[in-house]
Amino acid sequence: MNQDRAVLEGMNLQKRFQTGGEVRAVLDGVSIRLATGEWLAVLGPSGVGKTTLLHILAGLLPPDAGQVLWDQTDLYAMDETARDHQRAAQAGLVFQFHHLLPDLTVEENVRLALQLARRNHRDTDARKSVTDLLDRLHLRNLAGARIDKLSGGERQRVAVARALVHHPRFIFADEPTGNLDESAAGAVLDLLDTARRTEGVAILLSTHNPAAAARADRRLTLHAGKIM
Ligand SMILES: Nc1ncnc2c1ncn2[C@@H]1O[C@H](COP(=O)(O)OP(=O)(O)OP(=O)(O)O)[C@@H](O)[C@H]1O
Ligand SMILES: [Mg+2]
Repeated sequence: MNQDRAVLEGMNLQKRFQTGGEVRAVLDGVSIRLATGEWLAVLGPSGVGKTTLLHILAGLLPPDAGQVLWDQTDLYAMDETARDHQRAAQAGLVFQFHHLLPDLTVEENVRLALQLARRNHRDTDARKSVTDLLDRLHLRNLAGARIDKLSGGERQRVAVARALVHHPRFIFADEPTGNLDESAAGAVLDLLDTARRTEGVAILLSTHNPAAAARADRRLTLHAGKIM
């Protein structure tokens, strides 16, 4: 595995938002580089732009200026459909608002990520990898439960299972331990660490949690639209 090749690169990213009458540069020239198997933590106080940065790098929010490269390919030069396909195939997302489908069960939500990634898994293999993952996240006994019956922390763990099940190249995790107690948070961080060690998954994680930040290879702090 070549640790030096950037699998993900954000170059001179800018994003402004208008709130009330005022326009604010939330990102004012942010550049970021992530190598295969690297774990990067993005830190900074509430409202500084961590979620905005992760959304842009994950292909969910076009920047006002700058480029996002996934394996040297310009993510925002492709149309939205192509970008959605790339994301489903290559990325795993764990975001603050989970975007799980409330009417489906835990297992159905996780399996859907496999289907969207269009992996040709045999049905029995798919079932086994989903069950293994649910086991490791202590979700086995909730596999048949509907999402809208789960607690916030349980949903968070389902989101992590869904992000990992299709063996993505990158994981974007926005405060993935935010709703979790220490033991559940530890299980999530262990699983992310295993994915990057065994499969070379690159991880970009935003957090306020010192334990989560400590697991990263590098820590970047956002301040006034820039990286410190
Ligand atoms: N769609 C939007 N329209 C207007 N302003 C926005 C929008 N999205 C984010 N903002 C503003 O941009 C700033 C950065 O928001 P962001 O969610 O990226 O912060 P954050 O660092 O993730 O904070 P937290 O730690 O609380 O999650 C905030 O001031 C927010 O109000
Ligand atoms: Mg945020």
